[in-house]
Amino acid sequence: MPKKTVRDVDVAGKRVLVRVDFNVPLKDGHVSDDTRIRASLPTIDYLRERGCRVILMSHLGRPKDGPDPAFSLDPVAARLGQLLGVPVRKVNELTGPGVESAVGSMAPGEVLLLENSRFDPREKKNDPSLVAELARLGDLYVNDAFSAAHRAHATTAGLAAVLPSCAGFQMEKELEALDSLLTAPRRPFVVVLGGAKVTDKIKVIARFLDLADQLLIGGAMSLTLLKASGVSVGASKVEEEGLVVAREALAKAGISNCDLVLPRDFIVADAFAEGAATQVAAADAIPDGWMGLDIGPRTATDFASRIGGAGEVFWNGPMGVFEMPPFAGGTRSVAEAMAASTGITVVGGGDSVAAVNKFGLADKIDHISMGGGAALEFIEGAALPGVVELPDKEPV
Ligand code: 3PG
Repeated sequence: MPKKTVRDVDVAGKRVLVRVDFNVPLKDGHVSDDTRIRASLPTIDYLRERGCRVILMSHLGRPKDGPDPAFSLDPVAARLGQLLGVPVRKVNELTGPGVESAVGSMAPGEVLLLENSRFDPREKKNDPSLVAELARLGDLYVNDAFSAAHRAHATTAGLAAVLPSCAGFQMEKELEALDSLLTAPRRPFVVVLGGAKVTDKIKVIARFLDLADQLLIGGAMSLTLLKASGVSVGASKVEEEGLVVAREALAKAGISNCDLVLPRDFIVADAFAEGAATQVAAADAIPDGWMGLDIGPRTATDFASRIGGAGEVFWNGPMGVFEMPPFAGGTRSVAEAMAASTGITVVGGGDSVAAVNKFGLADKIDHISMGGGAALEFIEGAALPGVVELPDKEPV
C-alpha cells in the first residue's frame, strides 16, 4: 500500500519536522558530493511554498562519543543555502531551549537545520525522551530519508509514532521505483550485482533468483562463486567464509528459472596495484599468482548485450576495482550499457552510484537510489522501520 505523502496532508502554515539524509561526503570542510542534498529540494521547496516553517534533521557519519566538530552539519547548511538561494539557519544542538527559541522565531517559508542527530546518544536508541523533545518543535513529521529508513532511530522512526506524519517526495520516489521492480518488473528483468562480499548480498541474490530472468554477477564476489563451483581462481581475493553460502546460491540457481551468469573472463593482475602487470584470462584459467581485478572484455560485451535487451535492469555493485583506471573498464561498460538501455534502469548502492556519476551518465538512468543499505534490505524483503511507521495512503 503506498504511503501518505505531503500531497495528502494539509501542510499550510505548519511547523514541519523533516528527516532528510544529509549524510554526504565532506572534503576540506566542504560538501564534495551534494546529490543527497539536491534530492531533498523538491520536498523542502513544496513546504516553503505553502508557508511552512521547515525544520530539518539529519545524521552525518558515525560520530562515536557525542558532539564532534568533524561531523557538524555546518558545511551542509552552507551548501543547502546556496542550492535554495536563501540563507539556512543552523543551530548547534538537536533539542533544548536554544532550539525551541530558534523555532519560535521562524518566519513562514524559513528553513532551520538542527545539528547532527547522532551527537545525541538517545538518537540511535530511539529514546522516548528525545522523541518527545523533538515532537514539541513541530506539528507534522515528514520522512524524506529513504536511505536511513533501515535505522530504527528517534528521527527516522520514533517521531512517526507520536506526530501526524507522511513521506516526502524522495521517499515516495524510492519506494515507487523499488516496489515496482519487485512486484511488476518489465521483462526480461535483468539484475547486475557486483562488489566484494557474497555474504553481504546473499539474501539479495536469493530474492533475485526468484524474481529476475537473468542475474549477472561480477566483482570480487563472482570469484568466490567461481571458486565455490570448483574453479581455480589463482591469487584472486576470495571470501573464504562466503564459500558455503556461495554453494547454496549455486544450488538454488540450478533449480530456479533465473539464468545465473558468471564472468567468462577477467582482467587479471600480478599484484593489487594500479601499476601491476595485467593480462586477460579465461575464468577457468587464471594463472597461479594472478588475481582477477575486473571482468574481462568478453564478459563485458556479454553483460552489455543482456542489459541492452532488458525490459528492466537493476544494478548494484562494481564489476572490478574501478577506482584504479586499469580495472575500471567492466564497471564503465555496465554503466554505459545501462545509460543506453531502452528498458527501465535502476541503480542502487554507493559504489555503483559513484560510478555512474564518475562516468557522467547519471542523467541517463531512470532511477538512482540514494539508499545503499536501505535499498538492499528493502529488496531482501525486510520491513524498514522508517517506512513501516508512516501511515498508508487512504483508499480513494
Ligand atoms: C547511508 O549512508 O547509507 C545512510 O545515510 C545510513 O548511514 P548509516 O549506515 O551510518 O546508518
